[in-house]
Amino acid sequence: MNHDIYVLGIETSCDETAAAVVKNGTEILSNIVASQMESHKRFGGVVPEIASRHHVEQITFVIEEAMNQAGVSFQQLSAIAVTQGPGLVGALLIGVNAAKALAFAYGLPLVAVHHIAGHIYANRLVADMKFPLLSLVVSGGHTELVYMEEHGKFQVIGETRDDAAGEAYDKVARALNLPYPGGPHIDRLAHEGKVTIDLPRAWLEEGSYDFSFSGLKSAVLNTLHNAKQRGEHIDPKDMAASFQASVIDVLVTKTVNAAKEYNVRQVLLAGGVAANRGLRAELERKMAELNGIELVIPPLSLCTDNAAMIAAAGTVLFEQGKRADMALNADPSLELA
Ligand code: KG4
Ligand code: ZN
Repeated sequence: MNHDIYVLGIETSCDETAAAVVKNGTEILSNIVASQMESHKRFGGVVPEIASRHHVEQITFVIEEAMNQAGVSFQQLSAIAVTQGPGLVGALLIGVNAAKALAFAYGLPLVAVHHIAGHIYANRLVADMKFPLLSLVVSGGHTELVYMEEHGKFQVIGETRDDAAGEAYDKVARALNLPYPGGPHIDRLAHEGKVTIDLPRAWLEEGSYDFSFSGLKSAVLNTLHNAKQRGEHIDPKDMAASFQASVIDVLVTKTVNAAKEYNVRQVLLAGGVAANRGLRAELERKMAELNGIELVIPPLSLCTDNAAMIAAAGTVLFEQGKRADMALNADPSLELA
């Protein structure tokens, strides 16, 4: 008897149409991502209506490609896992309905996955998860510190009160006339510049693991505006370096403090901003001082939105007996629980 678990994951919460097949929650058999970045670039951000239309065009092809590359038939699948939320409702609906249609047609169990749970479980595709653990999820839409005592159990101990970290990167990049998405451009400039501009760090109340990046973003915009009024020149490289230093300082300090307070065995990094070279380096440096806590950082392709992470999280939920039915609906503001 074959006990292997094959899960098809489907992800359409934002601007990537993605499908993947994962074996036993850890082994990627295929991981297809159709990015719409080029279509949104000229608008300087994701346009929901355009995102939905692209998902409709791409979803069938992307799922077919994932199944073909994996060499697995629908009959061999154990379950279909899909991102239920959070995200853009019109975008989520395409994935949810595709998953429901396939689950119904092939008589397969359906599993609903929270997008952030997916980002966290991207780590299980590269390392064993050791509990208790702490995950820093930093992307264009999220900045969260999530504590986990066991598989499938999430406790959000900190989150952003305004802008997400990636969103702040994208807005500051825009003010510096850099293309969308701006994160990678700021990261590159930051390494060529110096930290010469004094920018705020929002520590919030003593002991809080929440974040806030809108004050920092406003400080950057004001500094640029005032300099322009006075006819002074600010080197974009120095502004990028100063901004990045402030973001990293807060992210790393809060993560390290929480890792100590919660006495975790592992710290996991997740989300698109995990690509940031400065963040990786500083987290590695600070974590090395904390003897015995392992740091896991997935490769970039698993940090940005993909469906292998949804299949990985879905496998755990499937094994725990969690099921969705045909009434499953997209939930743009789904809570992680
Ligand atoms: O996880 P992701 O692909 O999509 C969301 O779920 O949001 O994250 C995209 C975000 C964008 O805001 C982008 O600017 C940011 O990740 N990003 C970076 C870097 N690469 C991507 N931010 C800072 N440094 C980078 N190297
Ligand atoms: Zn994401």
